[in-house]
Amino acid sequence: MAEVSTSVLMVDKDKAVRTFYDLEVAKTDFFHIDVMDGKFVKKNNRKQMKEYALEIKHISNIPLDVHLMVENIKENIEDYIPLEPDRITFHIEAVKDKEEALEIIRLLRDNNIKIGVAIKPDTPLKDIYEIIEYVHMVLVMTVEPGKGGQELIKDTIKKVEVLNEYAKLNDLEIDIEVDGGINKETAILVKDAGANILVSGKYITESDNFKDSIESLKN
Ligand code: DX5
Ligand code: ZN
Repeated sequence: MAEVSTSVLMVDKDKAVRTFYDLEVAKTDFFHIDVMDGKFVKKNNRKQMKEYALEIKHISNIPLDVHLMVENIKENIEDYIPLEPDRITFHIEAVKDKEEALEIIRLLRDNNIKIGVAIKPDTPLKDIYEIIEYVHMVLVMTVEPGKGGQELIKDTIKKVEVLNEYAKLNDLEIDIEVDGGINKETAILVKDAGANILVSGKYITESDNFKDSIESLKN
C-alpha cells in the first residue's frame, strides 16, 4: 500500500491550522514541507514553511517530510534539525560534488534524520547512483520544482520504473517518492511504476474531503 505525503505548499495562511488539524484527522502519512529559497527556485517561502512546520509539530505527531529546494542545503538542514523531521530531501542539482553530498548525508545521519535525494525531471538517474546506497529515499520530481498545481510530466514515469528496477537489482531498500501533479489518475501510473510514497498538494488540499482524496491515492 502506498503512503501519502500531503504537501502544504498551497495551504492558505488564514486556513492553515484548521487544514493541518483536518489532515491529521484524515490520516495523511506525512506532511510534505516544500522549502524554497528564491535561488534554487524563483519562490522564497522559507519563513512560511518554517512557521507551518512548527504549527504542525504543535498539533500533530505525523512525521515531517521536508523537501529542500534550496542552494544552501546545510544551512536549511540546520534550520530544521530542532523540529526532528522524519526525513529531509536535498536536490542533487544543488550539490557541487560527491564529497559535499557525503557531508550532507553525514549531517543528517548524525541527527537521526532519514536521508532523501531528489532529482528534477531533466536530471538523469545516473547522477544519484554514486550516493544511492547511502540514502533512504529517492524523490523523483514529476513536475519542475517551484510551484504546486502543475500537470505531471509523463516522461518521468519511465524514470520511476528504471529506478525501481535498479533498486531491486542492487538490493537497495529505498523509498521511491514522486512529487508533482499526483491525483487519482496519475497515482495509478506512478504506483504501477514502483513509487511507494506519493506527494500530493492541490489534489488533496483543495478537495472537499481530505480523507476521501487521500484514500483515493492509496487504493
Ligand atoms: C513543487 C513541490 C511539490 C508540489 C506538489 O515544487 O515540490 O511538492 O507542491 O503539489 P501538487 O500536488 O499540487 O503538484
Ligand atoms: Zn515537494
